[in-house]
This record gives sequence, structure tokens and C-alpha cells, in this order.
Amino acid sequence: MSNYHIKNLEEYWQVYRKSINEPEIFWSEIAEEHFLWRKKWDKVLEWDFDKPSIKWYQGAELNITENCIDRHLFNRADKTAILFEPNNPQEKAQHITYKQLSERVNKMANVLKSQGVNKGDRVCIYLPMIPELAISVLACARIGAIHSVVFAGFSADALATRIKDSGSKMIITSDGAYRGNKTIELKKIVDEAIVDIDIVNKVLVVNRTKTKINMKNGRDIWLAPLLIKSSDICEATIMKAEDPLFILYTSGSTGKPKGMVHTTAGYMVYSAYTFKNIFQYQEKDVYWCTADIGWITGHSYIIYGPLANGATTVMFEGIPSYPDYGRFWEIVEKHKITQFYTAPTAIRALAKEKLDYVNRYDLSSLKILGTVGEPINEEAWHWYNDNIGKGKSPIVDTWWQTETGGIMISPIPFSTPTIPTYATLPLPGIQPVLVGNDGEELQGNNKEGKLCMKFPWPGMARTIWDNHKRFKDTYFSEVKNMYFTGDGALRNAVGYYRITGRTDDVIIVSGHNLGTAPIEDAINEHPAVVESAIVGFPHSIKGNALCGYITLKQYGESRDHDNLKAEINQMITERIGGIAKLDQIQFTVGLPKNRSGKIMRRILRKITLGDIENLGDTSTLLNPEVVELIIEGRAVKV
Ligand code: WTA
Repeated sequence: MSNYHIKNLEEYWQVYRKSINEPEIFWSEIAEEHFLWRKKWDKVLEWDFDKPSIKWYQGAELNITENCIDRHLFNRADKTAILFEPNNPQEKAQHITYKQLSERVNKMANVLKSQGVNKGDRVCIYLPMIPELAISVLACARIGAIHSVVFAGFSADALATRIKDSGSKMIITSDGAYRGNKTIELKKIVDEAIVDIDIVNKVLVVNRTKTKINMKNGRDIWLAPLLIKSSDICEATIMKAEDPLFILYTSGSTGKPKGMVHTTAGYMVYSAYTFKNIFQYQEKDVYWCTADIGWITGHSYIIYGPLANGATTVMFEGIPSYPDYGRFWEIVEKHKITQFYTAPTAIRALAKEKLDYVNRYDLSSLKILGTVGEPINEEAWHWYNDNIGKGKSPIVDTWWQTETGGIMISPIPFSTPTIPTYATLPLPGIQPVLVGNDGEELQGNNKEGKLCMKFPWPGMARTIWDNHKRFKDTYFSEVKNMYFTGDGALRNAVGYYRITGRTDDVIIVSGHNLGTAPIEDAINEHPAVVESAIVGFPHSIKGNALCGYITLKQYGESRDHDNLKAEINQMITERIGGIAKLDQIQFTVGLPKNRSGKIMRRILRKITLGDIENLGDTSTLLNPEVVELIIEGRAVKV
């Protein structure tokens, strides 16, 4: 039996028990047997959830790119590492071998150095899903620079917030991005984002779309000529185990996004270990995760986890609906994909289309299907199982978070029997608990409560960039001595976990976490608006959609003003991005508030759902009369 690769349920239980009883031995053996270290650790784990302070593999030295690239050059030099499938099906796919990846990453790393990037500097990467994105990420890791990838669907304002918070002095971007039949002017967005940010002194530009752009003298540089001149040999910078590897922003329920900091050794071990088990990767497999590298799923399960295992990982530039809804399945057939990992929202969108889009293609290469990012509803699960997996490929419903670095609760395919909508069992090393409203741990099965973790795991985030206090307040204060996930969950009769959803003001729309506060702030900036409150409501494809209750300065006149609704959505698009647009807007005379002036979103949520019988006692509100008025003019679609 190997700790590293679990092959059946009995092994799972043995390994799981060992991981709980002897966590340090367990994680030490895995690290020892499966990774390349420049120097071994002196201490496997030191932790204190009160501070919080979490340190894995202290004293160890390594470089993650030697694990993801160099060590494969001995036995996999000509194996495809990254298989790039462009947006346009007419454009040829690129098979980048491990040897080529090594050369391209080293060249890029040398470019970064020549442009003044040092170990510990932050580099903001704002690129579409093209090979240069993965190469830039790995090049940063090669020289110990901290990458901060920002999803290229974010607006200039959202990008600016992230550049400032991380203190990035370099940005890597492209002239434009292809997305279906559209071209998005990325460089223009960067220009707008950094007009007032002086710390950015270099913008490296990839030529992707040949879009005409402005190049600011001394600041903006085309990448291609620099790469040609640079050497393909670059010594890896030796990193300490707990040196930061990257920052990745995730929405919080209030205020600015949180820059989650992941460190080197623990993240590497955890992302690689979970990849191997969840996807049961075999040497000839072609693995495809459809996420964008701008999210944690792309970091852990397109780049680091697969490459650390010497896998072939697919990067797809396009969208599922272009040139038609068969695009995913065409790619599965073309590249003989063996593992396919996507989001429930994509499954729901594709399930709505004719089955012919699926049945046109040979999907017999598929062995394992996965989902991530939000709960998968039963209907979508069955559609996926019946039509894509043809009833023979296990579905891994993987629960985890940006903060956890890797998958935490998930079936292991061919080992764990699955039940639709259940993420099932914790992976080795993971100790979930459910906590009741009084902060007590709920023992036994058939329980529902707040999902917490009572023991650290190597992949967990160590802090929030530049704000350790917020890290403590958000994750380690709700329940004493536990990591609080922000999710609710239930544990059924056999101990399987089912995630019931967020317990805070984060709403997951199409698999993207959106905090209500920043959206409300964006709306409130509109000159006609007094204040606003956002609530989520179920949506057949997006999972949740957003409904905004908005008080206007001149309510009567503008009540049904369609232009105003469009302007408000435009405002949101500019401040955050198109993903945060509202599906429903209701202009109101006021928002229900309690005596201390707090907006009662709970009541608005019920009104939105049409559950007006169960609003509870509204007489204690400061302004009970607005509830009636809001019910009368119930929100209409934008
Ligand atoms: C939700 C994505 C139900 C959850 C990797 C979590 C899920 C948040 C699942 C993190 C799942 C993720 N079932 N809910 N399988 N996976 N979630 O940071 O609410 O983008 O807290 O990380 O997504 O989203 P994030």
C-alpha cells in the first residue's frame, strides 16, 4: 500500500486513519517519496490556530518548478506537458513538451530578471488562457517572484485594486483576448487600471490578437523580442518551504478582496497529492480542467498539481458555446481526454441545449468526470452522468476553496461510492467538523452545521496579504481553534458531507464568488442612487443570480426607468466585471432596516423568493411600511 496513490476503499480508510493518527509521519512520507528537495525539513508541522500561524516542512529548501518541470526531463522530456487548444477551432492546437516548457519558462524567467524582478517581488499577470499565462506563472516561481494572477474578465477598477494591494511593480498582459467571436482589448484595460498607480514600472505585452494598442515609452515592452534574446537556461532560485509562492484574490463578504497567500512546499505537496488521487492520473492520460487560471482551480489543477505529477494538462482558450455548444465534446474527442473537470454552471448551460451536440462526438476516452465551485444539483448530476459519462465514469464532486489550496472533500474515483449532490468524504489529512450555533462541535451523524476544520493541512493559505488580522478575523475567530470555511454542510447517516451553501454574504454566481458589499458600493456610486442591497436567488443555469433593491434619490420619476437599470449594470461592469451584473432590479422608496439601521437582507431574500408568508415579525423594523411597498412592486427582470 502506498500513502500516495489510493486505489480502493479499504486503502482509503487505512490511509485516512493513518493521516489522522500520525499526521506528521503521513505528510513526511509523502513529501519524502514523491518530491525533489534541495534540503529536507527539520520539522514537519508547527501550528497555532489562535495566532494563527501554520508552518509545514520548516527548514526545507526547494523550487516548485524543479518538481513540475526539471525532474521530468529525465523520463518525460518529449511528453506533452501543456496541450493548448485555441479559441478558434481552425487554429492548430499546440503540444508543448516538458523539454519545450522548460526552455520557455527559463527564457521567461530570464526576461523577468532582466526587467528588474527579484525574489519576493510581486508580478501581476493579466492574460487570457494562452500558454504564456502558464509560462509566466512558472517563470515567477522559478525566480521566487510572487505571482498574482487576475482573471482577465475583471474590469480595470478591479484590476487596479489588486495591483495596488499586492504592490505589483510589473504586469504581464496581452494586446487582446479572444473569447468566442469577440476580441477583448486587454491592454487597454491595463492602461486604464494603472493611470494613477506609480509603482507599476513595467508592462510586458504578449502579441495575441494583433489589436492596435498604445505602448507607453519606457514602461510597455513587447515580450516576443525579449524572449528571442534571452537564454533558455535559468538556475532555479532556492526557496524556503514557507516562502510565498503566490497571492490570489477572493471575494470577501465585506470590503476589499482578500489576497490569499499560499506558500511553497505545503501547497506543492497538497496540490500534487490531491491531483493524483482525485483524478487517478495514469501516464498516458490527457487531463482537461476547463477552469480559467485566474481562479484557484486553474492554479492547482491546470498548472501545479498536474505538472508535479508529470501529466499532460489541457489549456483551452475559448468558451463552451463557440462556435457552437458542441465545442467541449469536440475537444474531448479530438484530444482523447481521459479526465474532464468543470463547473456545474457549465453543465447546466450545456444540458439546456440539444443532445445532438453531445452525441455527435466520440466520448469513449473519458474515464473520470469532475465538478467544482458550487453545489451540483441532482438534475445536472444525472445529465452529466448519463450523457457525458455514459454511466461508466465516476463523478467526483470536489469541495474546496481558494483558501484551502486544494480539494478537501471529494470521492476518490473507483473507491468511494458516490451519491449525487454529496461531496462525500474528507481526503486523507482533512479533519472536518460541523459546529452548531453555540459554537459546539456536533458529534455523530445526521447533523447539519457550520463546516470547520480542526487540524491544519499542507495546502492551506497562511495569511491574507498585508492583513494578517483580517485572516484571523475571517477564518479563525468564528469558532475557537478551528478554521471556519464560511460554508454550511450536513453529514448524513453514513458520514458523507453535503455542502448546503455559504453562510455569509458571498453569493456564488456561475461558479464565481461574489461579495455583496463591493457590488452595492458600485451601485451606490451612481448619482441617482441613495443606497442598495443585493440578494441572491436560484437560477437554472447560473446556480444563483443577483437581485438588487435600490433606493433612488427621486423615486417617483425614475421608477421604471430602463435606462437607469442599464446604467447601473454598466456601473457594476466597470467597477467589478460583467460577471457581477444584476438579473433583477427593483427600485424602492426604502430598504427594510432594524432599529440599529442594519439592512435586513433576510427579508429581502424571502421577498425575492416569493416566500412572503414567512417574513417573520416585521413590526420591529424601523420602517415596516417599506416591506409592503416592496412586495407590491416585486422585482422584475432587468
Ligand atoms: C463553493 C473554488 C458545493 C463553496 C475551488 C466554497 C462548493 C466556495 C463546491 C469556494 C462543491 C466549491 N460543492 N459548493 N463541490 N466547491 N464550492 O474560492 O461555497 O472560488 O466555499 O474555490 O465555492 O469558492 P472558490
